[in-house]
Amino acid sequence: MSSSNAIGVFDSGLGGLSAVKEFMHVLPNEKIIYFGDTGRVPYGNRSRETIKKYAFQDAGFLLKHNVKMVVAACGTVSSVAGDALESELPVPYTGVVNPTAYAAAHKTRNGKIGVIGTAATINSHSYKLRLKKLNPDFKIFEQACPLFVPLVENGFIRRDDQIVRLVIRRYLSALKEEGVDTLILGCTHYPLLSKAISDFMGKNTALVDSGYETAVYAAKVLREQNLLNDSREVKNPDFYVSDTPDDFENVAGLFLGRDIKHTVNQIDIEQF
Ligand code: DGL
Repeated sequence: MSSSNAIGVFDSGLGGLSAVKEFMHVLPNEKIIYFGDTGRVPYGNRSRETIKKYAFQDAGFLLKHNVKMVVAACGTVSSVAGDALESELPVPYTGVVNPTAYAAAHKTRNGKIGVIGTAATINSHSYKLRLKKLNPDFKIFEQACPLFVPLVENGFIRRDDQIVRLVIRRYLSALKEEGVDTLILGCTHYPLLSKAISDFMGKNTALVDSGYETAVYAAKVLREQNLLNDSREVKNPDFYVSDTPDDFENVAGLFLGRDIKHTVNQIDIEQF
């Protein structure tokens, strides 16, 4: 395996681009190949078997590009299929759960940590189990937020939008009342709502964004395995999706926080 090979990143859709944004900051000289399963999104309300099947197809597509590492930039996949991917893939793998839980454990002062994610992520208790392993005294408060993904996908992200504020209040009131000082955004769509979430939770609650923590962890793994790309060239990612790429530039630009002018390719993921 050569250090000049790309890092493969995938998500159920375009939410994982919020992680790609962080990878581009933390590892600017790495080539990224991104696959968003836009034809089958969302995964968050599907069965464990289906999520696992999809996850292995997504990783299989990236492996065809000889990636040196696979990253599941998806809270749902990381929670449900993470262990299987880690043990079965022929290259280093990371999801978002472990690096994010680790960061939250170091951030909390009062030991009260909130976790929000899709229904599949919350039902798996992946973050809670990981956090309890790090410190059994932590108090973990979990909340599924199934309306957040459709809000984000439909562009409802503004902090002053009444619908956004209402949904956030409905989901997060209990966590706020419990006094969590750290809140894990356990789904890669949620960073787009972070300003509105922060407005509601107040400045004493730290939000932990899985994309950044995962990029830092991936850099550590690559360094340890001598797989960091030593070229100085800044690379642009390649993008693949499984449904029509119409409007990709606009939506992807939102997640990446910058205008993009890259081409996007549509593939048939059922082949993998
Ligand atoms: N991006 C996915 C995650 O992080 C959420 C979207 C979905 O339900 O597929 O969980």
